[in-house]
Amino acid sequence: MFLRRRHPAPIESQAELIATVPAELRQRLADVVESVPTDFGSAPGGLTKALTSAALIQQYELESYVEIGVYRGRSLLPVAAVFAAADRGSAIGIDPWEVTAATQQDLHLFPEAAATVNEFVRSLDWEAMFADVGRRIVELGLAEHCTLLRARASQVTDAIPDASVGLLHIDGNHDEASVLADLENYLPKMQPGGFVMLDDAAWESVGVARAVLERSHRFLFVDEANDFAVYAVG
Ligand SMILES: C[S@@+](CC[C@H](N)C(=O)[O-])C[C@H]1O[C@@H](n2cnc3c(N)ncnc32)[C@H](O)[C@@H]1O
Repeated sequence: MFLRRRHPAPIESQAELIATVPAELRQRLADVVESVPTDFGSAPGGLTKALTSAALIQQYELESYVEIGVYRGRSLLPVAAVFAAADRGSAIGIDPWEVTAATQQDLHLFPEAAATVNEFVRSLDWEAMFADVGRRIVELGLAEHCTLLRARASQVTDAIPDASVGLLHIDGNHDEASVLADLENYLPKMQPGGFVMLDDAAWESVGVARAVLERSHRFLFVDEANDFAVYAVG
């Protein structure tokens, strides 16, 4: 047993956690994830990640989600849909949507499959992507529960009160210093009993941040197929 809900029975695994998401919400999340285009820059495992977030939010009655690195919104929008379905809660997505921030320096620490990342980010129309995410939020009826902050995460720390975030998803620039800065800036934003989801946890450039998290927070599980790890705060 590694995870105990505030009131109900303990959860034994990620699979069991995900199984708590009701069928109707599961279908809605599948539809929202499906509506967001996917490409080389999207995090893998869109629906699995969405179901994991949904289960944590529902089981632990979380009301605040912050995502660093939104890209096309394949993780942010489903979480906003969870809040919209419950008529409570707020999902905040932080991303500058610009090529310099998305450019990686630590390529020698990246997996081989990510070696072409900089060429890819230079080919993207970031303005159009930002506009698309905003339009999709409105079209999906999520505007009351979803806010975009177009900035680097380090520039908008004042917008998020300390000890207020139930679920933090770190998926911005994957350079070692950048992931570490995200942790340093946003761990104080976490509410006791909250959760941190760290994307690409197996990447070497994310390894130091992972070690930092593991020293101070309780490791819950890693989704190896989709490469993200989840930690409990406090
Ligand atoms: C891997 S993508 C995010 C994928 C997204 N979370 C998903 O689930 O599909 C990384 C994103 O991080 C953004 N980014 C880069 N530096 C950032 C920073 N300092 N703060 C916030 N976002 C950043 C990039 O613009 C890019 O859109």
